[in-house]
Amino acid sequence: MSEILLYEGKSKVVYEGPDSESCIMRYKDTATAFNGEKKEDLSGKGKLNSSISNLIFGYLMKNGVETHLIKIIDDTSALVKKAEIIMVEVIIRNVAAGSFSKKYGIAEGTALKNTIVEFSLKSDQLGDPMINESQITAIGIASADELAQMTKLALGINDLLCALFVKTGIKLIDFKLEFGRYGGKIILCDEISPDSCRFWDADTNKKLDKDVFRRDLGDVLEGYRDVLGRLQSVLL
Ligand code: TMP
Ligand code: ASP
Repeated sequence: MSEILLYEGKSKVVYEGPDSESCIMRYKDTATAFNGEKKEDLSGKGKLNSSISNLIFGYLMKNGVETHLIKIIDDTSALVKKAEIIMVEVIIRNVAAGSFSKKYGIAEGTALKNTIVEFSLKSDQLGDPMINESQITAIGIASADELAQMTKLALGINDLLCALFVKTGIKLIDFKLEFGRYGGKIILCDEISPDSCRFWDADTNKKLDKDVFRRDLGDVLEGYRDVLGRLQSVLL
């Protein structure tokens, strides 16, 4: 079957699926940071992220979360529902880190009095700027009702992920989610992996995620392999 390219992103490629309701999402080995300014091929990253994300999506689906995942095709590809991606990234923060720490002068690792929900406009051209709810509704990216649904879903996913990761000895510091419209509902799309989350070892605070790449801290995929191994040991 010849593959018809629908979209190529920085870390994934999407092809047309066997019918009009689905598409094939393939993970690439490319790692990028700072909106693509830093870029490297890390052999095996696609397979690791695919395995990690599939395990996490399977766990969320078992716990009642609707996602785009239909079927795993091979090591790096999955058949997914062809949802209309809502062009905002939903970021959940349990502990201060990354751009939040930098922007507000709060040391990384500082506990937060409540969970933070943030939105960023999904735009490579503009560097994914932070955007608030009234700005999102004002320019018609999502309705107030959709935003409320995404927020509720993201917080529920956070509860499920925290419960899962505590069993693996990993602290879920923060993460990014993407949602899409499909069949009149809002479903979880994209991936959940060390590219899109901050994972710290619970005992040592060692970083097991893409910050190792962003900040040149050593062997990037060592942490990814560790995350996969720990998830397999609690989920399989
Ligand atoms: P930030 O602290 O850099 O804003 O990142 C927050 C979370 O979002 C972190 O877990 C990494 C993830 N993230 C992405 O998935 N894609 C991105 O482009 C960025 C900047 C962050
Ligand atoms: N994914 C984004 C990029 O390439 C940024 C990041 O994850 O830090 O550039």
